[in-house]
Amino acid sequence: MSHFSAFPPSSESFRRRPAKGGRGASVTHDSAEQHVTGAAQYVDDIPELARTLHAAIGKSPVAKGTLIQLDLSQVRTAAGVVDVVTIADMPAVTDIGPVYQGDPILAGPELQFHGQALFAVAAATFIEARKAVALAAIQMDEQIPTLTLEQALASGERVRPDHMMVKGDAKKALASAPNTLTNTLYNKGQEHFYLESQVSYAVPTDDGGMTIYTSSQHPSEVQKLVAEVLGIAMHKVTVLVRRMGGGFGGKETQAAPWACLAAVLAVRNKRPVKLRLDRQDDMVLTGKRHDFFSRWTVGFDDEGQLIGADIHLAGLCGFSPDLSDAIVDRAMFHVDNAYNFPAMAVLGQRCKTNTVSNTAFRGFGGPQGMIVGEAMMDDIARATGLDPLDVRLKNLYQNGDKTHYGQPIEDFHIERLMTQLERECEYRQRRHDITEFNQQHPYLKRGLALTPVRFGISFTVQHLNQAGALINIYTDGSIQINHGGTEMGQGLFTKVAQVVANEFSVDLDYVQVTATATDKVPNTSPTAASSGSDLNGKAAQAACQTIKQRLVDLAVEHFGVAPDDVHFINNHVVVGVGESAQWLTFAEFVQLAYEQRVSLSATGYYRTPKIFYDRDTASGRPFYYYALGASCSEVEIDTLTGEYRILRTDILHDVGASLSPAIDIGQIEGGFVQGMGWLTTEELTWDAKGKLASASAATYKIPTSMDVPSILNVRLFDQPNAEETIYNSKAVGEPPLMHGISVWCALRDAAASVANYAINPPLDTPATPERVLAAVMACQAHNEGLVAEQIS
Ligand code: MTE
Ligand code: MOS
Repeated sequence: MSHFSAFPPSSESFRRRPAKGGRGASVTHDSAEQHVTGAAQYVDDIPELARTLHAAIGKSPVAKGTLIQLDLSQVRTAAGVVDVVTIADMPAVTDIGPVYQGDPILAGPELQFHGQALFAVAAATFIEARKAVALAAIQMDEQIPTLTLEQALASGERVRPDHMMVKGDAKKALASAPNTLTNTLYNKGQEHFYLESQVSYAVPTDDGGMTIYTSSQHPSEVQKLVAEVLGIAMHKVTVLVRRMGGGFGGKETQAAPWACLAAVLAVRNKRPVKLRLDRQDDMVLTGKRHDFFSRWTVGFDDEGQLIGADIHLAGLCGFSPDLSDAIVDRAMFHVDNAYNFPAMAVLGQRCKTNTVSNTAFRGFGGPQGMIVGEAMMDDIARATGLDPLDVRLKNLYQNGDKTHYGQPIEDFHIERLMTQLERECEYRQRRHDITEFNQQHPYLKRGLALTPVRFGISFTVQHLNQAGALINIYTDGSIQINHGGTEMGQGLFTKVAQVVANEFSVDLDYVQVTATATDKVPNTSPTAASSGSDLNGKAAQAACQTIKQRLVDLAVEHFGVAPDDVHFINNHVVVGVGESAQWLTFAEFVQLAYEQRVSLSATGYYRTPKIFYDRDTASGRPFYYYALGASCSEVEIDTLTGEYRILRTDILHDVGASLSPAIDIGQIEGGFVQGMGWLTTEELTWDAKGKLASASAATYKIPTSMDVPSILNVRLFDQPNAEETIYNSKAVGEPPLMHGISVWCALRDAAASVANYAINPPLDTPATPERVLAAVMACQAHNEGLVAEQIS
């Protein structure tokens, strides 16, 4: 509820009361109440206009093939059906690939994955559209698909060329190393499972244009693609996003096809069209986190000091490039995590398969790279007999080092952060206790791991690092702010509102953030790469500063004071100093500005400084700064069944000077649980024909509240960002997902205890109980081998 009152009297007590909810205040999410009461309006909740049609998608029944005949006559005559379209019916552009070509809006004649969108039906009701879809008669020449990374690696199929990043001479370093270890890791992908599935509502306008209400992280790209597909100018298309019921990267590029199809059907029928994917269709039709198969050789000395590494990272991209070039690059950028490899060669491969095109997912390939670095640390610890934490600590980057892509390490305080966490979570004592516990318990085994996170902040595509904002102040003193970022639950709108409240020193309820709209702020970047508040917070601040300057100029002219004697304090504008100072409420001052004909609307713009990257030489400074953190997880496994529990996780995370601590902590908790889900319970499976077998909540297990560690402590590492981000805060959206890695390392530690840490048990992910049991059995087999040797 808003307690905003237009002209609160400027009483003594009101003057003394500090404005509420500015930077660093722990406020609630601006939609918290609507979220928990169900009042929050998502696209499917918007009251439908008269004559609205509902669309459904017909899908390819094979993973690879060529269409011979697509007979849709039964579909067209089904009850309620008004229109049916295939790729031949598209008015203009048909390839909607976001960066590179390769994403036909509808398939045909080539079929490239099982479930690929093939035709779209518009009917009077959602149910009628879905029933009609099933009536298609499809004849095709079915071919043998490429379904796995192994197959694509063997056949050389790629969506984009391979790419290398090199530091020093890795070959030479490995040849000189006293010890080397070679290992592999397979990380399966992850379904986004945003609670609101993909949806767009297209409403034709009377000037030949289109208004689109959509659940997208990238309204400007939806605008551009809808315009291209319809063959009209971008200024005819307006895209609106009030909120998403989660995006997690899955709505960065893959919200657009549904908007485009809804728009095509809307134009053809001159009626509003809503296209909402139901859960199963969403899971089949949209891309996920990339599977990665990683292979490496790492060299180190007897004290566990890194000498060099040769690393191959292969990402399963699916049938088209989508964002895979940048995603595999980000895996390559993060394979070092927090550690200084004196020499390194990283090869990134973008494998093409006849599966759905994989896409952005929280971390954007970073997690798949980072877990390889962490696996190496554990492997080296077991090879040298050192504690894994000690191997980590001794290999940390120091200020002045350079990464394998040439970015200098600056302001790097991870060692302080890790040792603080080590102390606070009593790592050493618990390691000791676990050793005792494991000696006393023949079947239950515990494991522990403390792992760092170092995540680069900025889009690695440089031009995306820009943002705009529009601020309107109304004559009652209330403020509207609009910016290019989208709200998906992460609290961006709340943070930007806090920035605006802070700039004017007014209560947070003076500020209203309005739905992202391409006609208010144009040419925006996706809300992604965790940079939403960095970019849009700064753009909003710039807009505020423009208006503030005008207001100060007015005060100087009107009251004859010096500019330095105009202050925004406690919901007031204070003019003059000492006894003679005049306190006008913010609303009174705004009213004065209006009467004096001062513009109360302004735009703001921001672009990230310092960043550059040359992909040809694979070097530069792609990241403005790094977000840091560390987590420590303890697990208990049952070596008879592989079942396990996560007993406790402690997280210490660096968000710089927090813009909004409660929201940041929420992001850290949620990110961690999502990362833990990726590495433990969430398993995507396809059948032998390439059909997604885990296409519903019944067969795909996301973590529930019951899976959260019984003890979960989250603390913020309190240190302002050395870079001049918005109030020296740091981005928070993606990095905490990678705290899930400490759970995986702890599970592997627990399994390894069975062989007294003498081997590195294989543990591909998700580390389901079956895989944990297999890791335990590998240790048992090793033990038996040892025993046999001793006897003979
Ligand atoms: N938090 C919630 N609740 N819902 C989401 O969809 N997406 C994540 C993260 N946190 C997401 C979320 C992803 S993938 C990113 S890139 C960031 O939020 C985007 O928002 P930001 O840049 O404002 O942090
Ligand atoms: Mo987030 S994966 O960058 O949308």
